[in-house]
Amino acid sequence: MKAPAILLIALPLLATSAAAQQGNVRATMHNLSVSGTGQIKSSTETEVCKFCHIPHSAIVPQPLWGHALSSVKQYQVPQVRSKGTRILAPQPDGSSRLCLSCHDGTVALADVGRSPRKPSMSGPTHLAPTQQGFIGIDLSGSHPVSIRMPDGSDQQSADDMGLKSLAVVQADRQVRLDESGKIQCTTCHDPHSDQYYQPGRAAHFAVKPSTTEICVTCHEVR
Ligand code: HEC
Ligand code: HEC
Ligand code: HEC
Ligand code: HEC
Repeated sequence: MKAPAILLIALPLLATSAAAQQGNVRATMHNLSVSGTGQIKSSTETEVCKFCHIPHSAIVPQPLWGHALSSVKQYQVPQVRSKGTRILAPQPDGSSRLCLSCHDGTVALADVGRSPRKPSMSGPTHLAPTQQGFIGIDLSGSHPVSIRMPDGSDQQSADDMGLKSLAVVQADRQVRLDESGKIQCTTCHDPHSDQYYQPGRAAHFAVKPSTTEICVTCHEVR
């Protein structure tokens, strides 16, 4: 039997990458457990991943999402170009909904959905408008999310948007579109790693060492 041998090799590899990720998250503002370094953290919960993921009965199966989702149906959204006119961007979907489950400020940070044991927080229980991480439900002044990335090489002449070709964008391994080719919060932010943060240069959880490098992955600088 060959299969068990392969499993024996594959399992330690998975464990290693989970351990590596655990190490990264632990050092960020997304460590909301008692070992968290920020002001917002739990007084009881020692598990770092639990605020977002659950091993069983996930609310969203991929990626084993455990945090209760926001029930907000209508966010205010920015405009995007479409066939020579401007239309409203779609409502946030996909992984952007996962981020908004804490960042729109409507759901308790410790509302870990179906988990039988909910953590207690020592500080704020929600992201409030006074906190830096608060985004709220008005996204009209934010970069559009949940839109399919147009192919700059097709649209350039029609709309003169100054977007790069889809092939160029897809070749970038740090700025990633989701599986439907859409821009999401995770295109610019990696919720597990704050390795590039530098005030004035790179945002928290940035996917590249500077904001400019992220923007010019898709936009032509003229
Ligand atoms: C603050 C929320 C948050 C915390 C805490 C968190 N994650 Fe995630 N995780 C996410 C989000 C959001 C995604 C979906 C990313 C995407 O769709 O691109 C994700 C996806 C994943 C995935 C799927 C592969 C990937 O990277 O897209 C794995 C594996 C994972 N997380 C492991 C972990 C582990 C292990 C921990 C604890 C050390 C952890 N996460 C803590 C938010 C979090
Ligand atoms: C479980 C709740 C939770 C989820 C889910 C979550 N975050 Fe956070 N995030 C926080 C908290 C709490 C902070 C710290 C905010 C503060 O101190 O004001 C934070 C901080 C941040 C910051 C830094 C804010 C600053 O002070 O500049 C960014 C950027 C961020 N999150 C992006 C994301 C993105 C993108 C996602 C989805 C991929 C996500 N977060 C998912 C809870 C969450
Ligand atoms: C096009 C790239 C991009 C996308 C998409 C994006 N962000 Fe950001 N985000 C940034 C940059 C760059 C900053 C830093 C802004 C600054 O320093 O002025 C930032 C800042 C933040 C902050 C800190 C507070 C603030 O407003 O400065 C939070 C929280 C945050 N983003 C969460 C999110 C969430 C949640 C989503 C999805 C709904 C998202 N971001 C989508 C690039 C992006
Ligand atoms: C993954 C590709 C991608 C990344 C990365 C990206 N953008 Fe965009 N951006 C787009 C797309 C697509 C649009 C929508 C264009 C449209 O239809 O109007 C857009 C729209 C915009 C607009 C609105 C333009 C208008 O017509 O009103 C601005 C401003 C902008 N982006 C700035 C930025 C900045 C600043 C960054 C870096 C923080 C950034 N973008 C990162 C793809 C991207």
